[in-house]
Amino acid sequence: MERAALVLAAGAGTRMKSKKPKVAHEILGKPLVNWVIDAARAAGMDEVVTVVGHGRQIVEPLVAGTTVVEQKERKGTADAVAAAAEALAHLDGSVVVLSGDCPLITPATIAALAELRETADAAAVVLTMKPDNPFGYGRIVRDEAGQVLRIVEQKDATAEEAAITECNSGFYCFDAKFLFEALGQVDSNNAQGEFYLTDVIAIGRAAGRAVMALESPDAQECLGVNSRIQLAEATAVLQQRINNAHMAAGVTMWAPDQVWIGPDVKIAPDVELLPQVMLLGTTSIGEDSVIGPNCRLTDTVVGAGCTIDETVAIEAQVDDGATCGPRAYLRPGAHLCEKAKAGTHVEIKKSTVGKGSKVPHLSYVGDATIGEGVNLGAGTITCNYDGKHKHPTVIGDDVFVGSSTMLVAPVTIGEGATIGAGSVITKDVSPHTLGLGRARQVEIEGWKPKA
Ligand code: UD1
Ligand code: CA
Repeated sequence: MERAALVLAAGAGTRMKSKKPKVAHEILGKPLVNWVIDAARAAGMDEVVTVVGHGRQIVEPLVAGTTVVEQKERKGTADAVAAAAEALAHLDGSVVVLSGDCPLITPATIAALAELRETADAAAVVLTMKPDNPFGYGRIVRDEAGQVLRIVEQKDATAEEAAITECNSGFYCFDAKFLFEALGQVDSNNAQGEFYLTDVIAIGRAAGRAVMALESPDAQECLGVNSRIQLAEATAVLQQRINNAHMAAGVTMWAPDQVWIGPDVKIAPDVELLPQVMLLGTTSIGEDSVIGPNCRLTDTVVGAGCTIDETVAIEAQVDDGATCGPRAYLRPGAHLCEKAKAGTHVEIKKSTVGKGSKVPHLSYVGDATIGEGVNLGAGTITCNYDGKHKHPTVIGDDVFVGSSTMLVAPVTIGEGATIGAGSVITKDVSPHTLGLGRARQVEIEGWKPKA
């Protein structure tokens, strides 16, 4: 049977106190709404439709991979679903309705909602929960036989109904044909003057169709993010879920609560993560590498057997056996080849450091191509920028650069050359020569006047 997911993401989220729409706020580098969409995809949904509204210019690009529909005015959850009526008119099967601000929902639960509805041929299955404090949630009203009758919102509930502890999580699976017909019968005669999606439950019952409840296996899954505090709570849950999965797959963490790993990061077995490590974006780490403490790696590829200590790396590549830090900064396009080293207080941008080459201390390397077996002495700087343009530096294999050298680009240092310490190199240096670009030391006699 065909299955679609409908993600509601039109709300403003005023309690976030933000200029950004709520669903655009990120957890571990991924916006809230994308956690929900990705869970729906992982649950095998054939199609995902997203309802946008508030902050549409910001939300729409985030959900570009889905069918996007707009809810023009926020008139309630039934109205939000109705915005997708045309987009889903073709659907003969199940539609799972998800909240774009509930990032903890799992693919297993989404699939379970659809399975149950289809097996029972129910009009609707609602995911329910029993939170510690049910205040504010819709309550599940059942008949004497224990069958679901309807859902009543907090603001419309009698004292007796408000005492019910079983709550609506806001996740549902509907028979699509039934849902879009039933929406026509929903009105706004309630305490909030809104069109409630929850009214569809009673409409299903009245039509003689089965309506069912599925209790959430874990109330945490239904946590909605309405405030920055809940954003932090949800972050902690996802951090733990991801870390547990990596540890189960053979990754060591000294202190998992001090490690933050994005959902798309790949880590090989026998990697060791020390405290205060953030691995974000599409970062990947090869076998036996040790990362940390104090590292932030974004969209960076690290090979096997690397040591990365106190390093910030963005869009960089570190090949097998290379070492980095403490206190290295690898900027976009930095590439350390096999067994290369970027040491302490070293910044590298858009440059290749060849196999086994070393930049051990206090250097800036930008727009450079460095061969194999090269050693750049402490304080070597590529002067790549003349105030208008960036220029390249090319350093051949086995070059030795003495400390505190300025390489004024564009410049090429030939293979096997040596550069004397303290040089300012403004012209190319031929292979296997000694390049010196500094004033000769002189001694001036009688400098100190006689008494
Ligand atoms: C809703 C349920 C309630 C349930 C709770 C769970 C209704 C009437 N009530 O209440 O039973 O316990 O969720 O969290 O559905 N949205 C739109 N357009 C709108 C209104 C809402 O897109 O016009 C979106 C919101 O951005 C949000 C979701 O729908 O993602 C839920 O809306 P919200 O107003 O937060 O519903 P609740 O009042 O919390
Ligand atoms: Ca509301």
